[in-house]
Amino acid sequence: MVNTIEVQGIFKEFVIHHERHQSLKERLLHPGSGTSEKFRALENISFSIAAGETVGILGHNGSGKSTLLKTICGVLAPTTGEIKLRGTLAALLELGAGFQPELSGRENVYLYGAMLGLKRKEVAAIFDEIVDFSEIGKFIDTQVKFYSSGMYVRLAFAVAVNVDPDILVVDEVLAVGDERFRAKCMDRIIRFQREGRTILLVTHDADQVRRLCSRTIVLNRGELVFDGPTTEGLKVFREHLHASEDSTTNSANENIEITSVTTPSGTFDVRSGEGMHFDVAISSAKAYAGHFVMELHSRRGELISRSDAMTSPVQLKPGSNVVGIDIAALPLLDGVYDLNVGIVDEIGQNVLAWSEKAATIEVAYDGREQGIIEIAPSITQL
Ligand SMILES: Nc1ncnc2c1ncn2[C@@H]1O[C@H](COP(=O)(O)OP(=O)(O)OP(=O)(O)O)[C@@H](O)[C@H]1O
Ligand SMILES: [Mg+2]
Repeated sequence: MVNTIEVQGIFKEFVIHHERHQSLKERLLHPGSGTSEKFRALENISFSIAAGETVGILGHNGSGKSTLLKTICGVLAPTTGEIKLRGTLAALLELGAGFQPELSGRENVYLYGAMLGLKRKEVAAIFDEIVDFSEIGKFIDTQVKFYSSGMYVRLAFAVAVNVDPDILVVDEVLAVGDERFRAKCMDRIIRFQREGRTILLVTHDADQVRRLCSRTIVLNRGELVFDGPTTEGLKVFREHLHASEDSTTNSANENIEITSVTTPSGTFDVRSGEGMHFDVAISSAKAYAGHFVMELHSRRGELISRSDAMTSPVQLKPGSNVVGIDIAALPLLDGVYDLNVGIVDEIGQNVLAWSEKAATIEVAYDGREQGIIEIAPSITQL
């Protein structure tokens, strides 16, 4: 298969200047007095992506995701290493990267098209479509600096998907904008996938990656720590990185681990509508007041349910702990579902322990409803 993106041994260093003398006068009196240090944002990154693949890039804040995308798009030059692209590329980079604030939306669309190698006539031919998709309306002639972040993303997305690129690169931006527009973008990305285009998606959102990407690259502090199937990538991202990264900011995060998830009968087979019970064994190095959270996913990766962590406190004691989970009635239809369980901190922000695909639940259903959950409407003729 032909590779569309080849990244070979990329390093990216930023030079950070520390000024010791703040005022201009002092700086003139003490030239060169500031110190500078090099910061390595990317370390020896290599991978290749075949035509038609959708690859997710996961990593915590500051892990180098945006820097990597910018080097791939040519916005930033790598310090060393090489990037080869085959085909045209359209990018939706972080907010602020891409458009010229002083120019109007219209001028930016033409400028962006030109950057992608389109002739003015070619942009003109798709211009209405872009404005239509973006729902910017009459604001298309307003300077972009007056746009809200939602408007900005809408226009950027509309341009990126309408210029007919072979490769689409998206950095995070899908988190901006209202629910309806996000769904519209998501539909468009799925259409892109079906058309066999190559997509590179940067996000913190594990659910998005689970839905869209079969392959995932995980970055941690500038290094590529995983490249492979998404299920495993999510495991690496959540189980290992959370534990190691958070421990620097919150010492309570150390050494909480989910050791097993079991049921009294030993199986996770259940009849639709029946309840189930399972025990989650957790080992903890010290006493900790956390919250329990569970997720169910369909085999297609859709999130079916995530429990409310704020109403599920658990008091962990040092050593082994067992938390019993009761589900009164599982309204799922026939199928196989993945169970993830985790412990989060008191504000529900940091994952302290996580077990991705802790168990597979098989639901048997005798009825005739189709889909994922049983609604069982009662029909009355009035
Ligand atoms: N222009 C720059 N000058 C100096 N350091 C930079 C520059 N751009 C990025 N960095 C640093 O490089 C590291 C990686 O940043 P990057 O923006 O790529 O991370 P990220 O994974 O996209 O994070 P986030 O999830 O917050 O978007 C960070 O420590 C950041 O501070
Ligand atoms: Mg970023």
